[in-house]
Amino acid sequence: MLRKLIIDCDPGHDDALAILLAAKYFDVLGITTVHGNQTVEKTTRNALRILEFSGMTHIPVARGSEVPLIQPLVVHPFGHGESGLDGPDLPDPVTSVDPRHGVDFLIDTLMAHEDVTLAPVGPLTNVGAALRKEPRIRAHIREISLMGGATAVGNTAPVSELNVECDPEAAHIVFTSGVPIKMVGLNLTRQAEATPERCERFRALGTRVGQIVFEIVSWYSGRVKLAYGLPGASLHDACAIAWLIDPSLIEAVTCHVGVELHGQYTRGMTVCDLRHITRPGAPIQGFGGVVVSEPANAEIGMKLDVERFFDLLVNTIAMYP
Ligand code: RIB
Ligand code: CA
Repeated sequence: MLRKLIIDCDPGHDDALAILLAAKYFDVLGITTVHGNQTVEKTTRNALRILEFSGMTHIPVARGSEVPLIQPLVVHPFGHGESGLDGPDLPDPVTSVDPRHGVDFLIDTLMAHEDVTLAPVGPLTNVGAALRKEPRIRAHIREISLMGGATAVGNTAPVSELNVECDPEAAHIVFTSGVPIKMVGLNLTRQAEATPERCERFRALGTRVGQIVFEIVSWYSGRVKLAYGLPGASLHDACAIAWLIDPSLIEAVTCHVGVELHGQYTRGMTVCDLRHITRPGAPIQGFGGVVVSEPANAEIGMKLDVERFFDLLVNTIAMYP
């Protein structure tokens, strides 16, 4: 019996890899889309295109939130292009979305099932809104494996990561929900670097989907090289799925994660308390005051077995025609 999974995403090149990975190992109850890499109109279109080119159109797609809960919408076309999935020449989708809003799809699907794993790999607007609208869904969620945040260095801001920075209030709702959380932040996902040699492994499969994935990761890597001078793009979102498939791929620590909502330079930062305090709640003498640790609320991925991660990815893409 396959584990039940819902993916919430903003495709997005690495979102595409996450979807292709999940579809082969989980009973994917649905995909909900959200603003982030591009507008939700474009991320929804891309979710449909990904399911169509991979032959996975049995998975329903529900279009979600257009804007964050509080702050104005900001999209990030540089990383993923004007379409949100630039690179491969994919036709316009012909399948339709589910008529429900993504938030309602999440609530309805979670209330109709038990023991569902949630994999948000975009801004957390849909998940945050669903938790607020129907708190009872928490009892139906086995765990949340999310791509977001970082233990230190950010990407869209010095200490903030895109998914959390796009909607910090939604992230705060998720991290304070009490639902078990696995977090793959940039400190982990930057290890999943799609170098040219790794990209070539997809083309070497000699399959139609292998070629499309090669074009997806190669285009994405070209942008990252342009922006940061790095040899390859990080396949951030696929890490959140790979951890669920093979827990031995990632070494993790458990600690408290707080989402900064107020700082001029730090808004959207995931403040990970890595002080390894053995007695949660024990008072720690800070400078001039007492700083008390807060109970752990997440597992934080710290070290990725990179070669086995890419083996899993390539072997999974090889399952497609
Ligand atoms: O910061 C990484 C996140 O934003 C990933 O979800 C990826 O899609 C990027 O756009
Ligand atoms: Ca994403």
